Amino acid sequence: MSTSTGSSASTREFASARSVDRRVNLEVDLAPGAKRELILRNPIMTASGTSSNGLELARLFDVNRLGALLSKGVTLQPRRGNPTPRIVETPAGMLNSIGFQNVGVRKLLRDAATVWETWSVPVVVNMLGDTVDEFAHLAQILDGAPGVAAVEVNISCPNLDVGGVAFGRDPIAAGRVIEAVSTATTLPVIAKLTPDVTDISVVARACEDAGADALCVANSFVGMSIDVHTRRPRTNRPVAGLTGPAIKPLALRLVWESARAVSIPVIGCGGISDGRDAVEFLLAGATAVQVGTASFRDPYASVRVLEELLDYCREHGVADINELIGAVQTD
Ligand SMILES: Cc1cc2nc3c(=O)[nH]c(=O)nc-3n(C[C@H](O)[C@H](O)[C@H](O)COP(=O)(O)O)c2cc1C
Repeated sequence: MSTSTGSSASTREFASARSVDRRVNLEVDLAPGAKRELILRNPIMTASGTSSNGLELARLFDVNRLGALLSKGVTLQPRRGNPTPRIVETPAGMLNSIGFQNVGVRKLLRDAATVWETWSVPVVVNMLGDTVDEFAHLAQILDGAPGVAAVEVNISCPNLDVGGVAFGRDPIAAGRVIEAVSTATTLPVIAKLTPDVTDISVVARACEDAGADALCVANSFVGMSIDVHTRRPRTNRPVAGLTGPAIKPLALRLVWESARAVSIPVIGCGGISDGRDAVEFLLAGATAVQVGTASFRDPYASVRVLEELLDYCREHGVADINELIGAVQTD
């Protein structure tokens, strides 16, 4: 739902459930001016790959309370991913090297889309191709799929030999992917950026110019861990993606810089574990936030962050969440 301006039934349903609390307006618009709208009843989303396709979370709580759900990243064909070990704990975070294990877009849609269609929460599909054409083909397939509200274009995966972060490090390549995807679909397009760049504002602007409706800032940082006994890396590949509280201040800075560089909405992602973290990202300029690694420790983390955000708004007399966006005072 909330994917098409033309559907009166879904618009009515959305209107009746648009805010978890009538005293605080939590609704945010993630794609103003897009061909199809992406209005979230609140700014709390899950982060791709950290809670599969939402079906597992739906067994624990009412996922319709969230602003949006992200699917695990999907490719045209199924992938087995990297060999183990794929996950390593670090003092304030986690290293992962999953390598994009997924069932392929057609099976994903067969298994999950009919369920997504019954939910009122918008589902955003995270997708990845090896080539610009593959990204465009995926976008075409997802365009007419039931229950898909938007696409998040992964030009930032650090755990692959081909594609992935290579697109996101180069503003020209990033722009080509986003342009191809925007042409191939009427769905709102979110470009998911890599933090592994010298100046994120350059890639952010390239994606905006190429037609992105929003940015997600950011994917995992590139990190490493070595077993001193075996003298070998502790993940299957020498480097892996670092996520969790360790990256929060780094991601926050990137969100702040990105939000100043573009006029499209920015989604904050990186180490968000509680309501105060979410508020920090909103103040830095994020319109919405994604909760990822925190849900490994606490599968209810996303709804907890939502409740804590609401508590903050009540305590600080915030009547409309949009008041917080970019409201950090730096002078
Ligand atoms: C196990 C795991 C799998 C992930 N898979 C994906 C993925 O498929 N696509 C993607 O864009 N990001 C993926 N990510 C990155 C997260 O969506 C998020 O950008 C990152 O974890 C930072 O947020 P966090 O610190 O809140 O976890 C994955 C992260 C983890 C930990």
